Amino acid sequence: MAAVTNFEEITARELKPGLLELDGISRESVEAHYRLYQGYVGKRNEIMRRLGDVDLGAANQIFSELRGLKLELSFAVGGIKNHEVYFEHLGGDGGAPKGAIGKLIERDFGSADAWREDLKATGLAARGWAWTAYDWDEGRLFNYLGDSQNTFPIWNATPLVALDVYEHAYFMDFGTDRASYIDKFLDNLDYDVVNDWVQKYGIRK
Ligand SMILES: [Fe+2]
Repeated sequence: MAAVTNFEEITARELKPGLLELDGISRESVEAHYRLYQGYVGKRNEIMRRLGDVDLGAANQIFSELRGLKLELSFAVGGIKNHEVYFEHLGGDGGAPKGAIGKLIERDFGSADAWREDLKATGLAARGWAWTAYDWDEGRLFNYLGDSQNTFPIWNATPLVALDVYEHAYFMDFGTDRASYIDKFLDNLDYDVVNDWVQKYGIRK
C-alpha cells in the first residue's frame, strides 16, 4: 500500500494588500517573504504526491524515503501554518493589546509590558519563531520558542501571535538589528485579528 492514497492540493492564501504598506517593514521584504511561504505550499503538495509512491510493504523505503519525506513534510507544513498566522495578523496599528487578548495577556503575564518584554526576549533567543500561544491543558498563554518551522510547537496549544525571527523576515530592512525589527513587528500587529481568533477558538478569560 502507498503511504498516501489520496490527498488534496492546497493553495497559498492571498497576501492582504495592507501587508505591502506596513510601517517600517518594506514591500520588497514582505513580497520576498510571501514567495517563501508560497514555496512551502508547493513543497507540501510535492511531498504528498511523492508519498503516494512510497510502498509501505518495502522496509527499505520506510526507513529511507518515508522518513525523509515525513521530516520534510513537517518542515513545509510548519512553514505554511506559521506564516499564515504571521501574515494574517500584521497590517494593524500595534499599540497596547486590547479586547480579549489584552485581558488574557494581563492575566497571564501580569501586564502588557511584561508580555512584550518576554516575547521580545524569546524572539531574540530563538532561531526561528516566538509564539504567544494558548495552552488548552494549562488554560493560559505562554511565549514559546521555536528554532525552525517544525521545532518546537507544543501540542494542544494554539498560536495567537507568531513572531518570525528568521533572518529572511528582517535582514533586508534591519540588517542584523533584530531587536528593532521585533519592535516594528509589534507596531504592525492587528489585535482585531487576534481577538477574532480568541473568539473563534472559544478561548475564555
Ligand atoms: Fe518567514
